[in-house]
Amino acid sequence: MAVTQKLLTALDVMRDAPVIPVIVLHELRHAVPLARALVAGGIRMLEVTLRTPKALDCMRAIAAEVPEAVVGAGTVRSSADAEAAARAGARFAVSPGFTPALGRACRDAGLPLLPGVATGGEIMAAQEEGFGALKFFPAQQAGGVAMLKAWQGPFGDVVFCPTGGIQPANAVDFLALPNVACVGGSWLAPVDALEQCDWPRITALARATAALAPQSQKL
Ligand code: 3PG
Repeated sequence: MAVTQKLLTALDVMRDAPVIPVIVLHELRHAVPLARALVAGGIRMLEVTLRTPKALDCMRAIAAEVPEAVVGAGTVRSSADAEAAARAGARFAVSPGFTPALGRACRDAGLPLLPGVATGGEIMAAQEEGFGALKFFPAQQAGGVAMLKAWQGPFGDVVFCPTGGIQPANAVDFLALPNVACVGGSWLAPVDALEQCDWPRITALARATAALAPQSQKL
């Protein structure tokens, strides 16, 4: 069933599934079958990173042809990125860092934003601008599970999507934390599976994530 066209919040995006796939697409022909394969495995929120010349075309194709998916833009770093992503059909944005200008640009473009943070000061800056559902990036490299546990005291009102260095084996440790709504990761769209157009493998990877239900959704 198509996800309704209601305006999503960042929390809606985070709570739809245990994992948001971080997708890098070099070829337009891969976009629609990849999106269908992920949706078939139960993953609807798809972060297509703005790292390739084809990224916007891929978003446009997924938005037009896979109504069951919700395509978002990743690696959004500027106001121009946010505007281009919204025009291409993105319905949410994910950024590797945070600036107030980017926050405003995403609001103006109608895109819920998961802003990237890695320090307490960055969390406070994002909160000052009204953002409370944040991406912890790069999660594993910047302190991992221990850092998220340390933030539970001072930032108990913040919900995180840790991303960076997360695999199925350590995803469970992140998802067991009460301040984690989901994790992000590139393992759901491996380069070799894309090159081989191995869509059943991607569906199987997506399906396996259903078992990784976050603790915060079990409460
Ligand atoms: C990224 O921006 O590439 C994400 O953090 C994905 O990282 P991963 O490849 O370690 O999952």
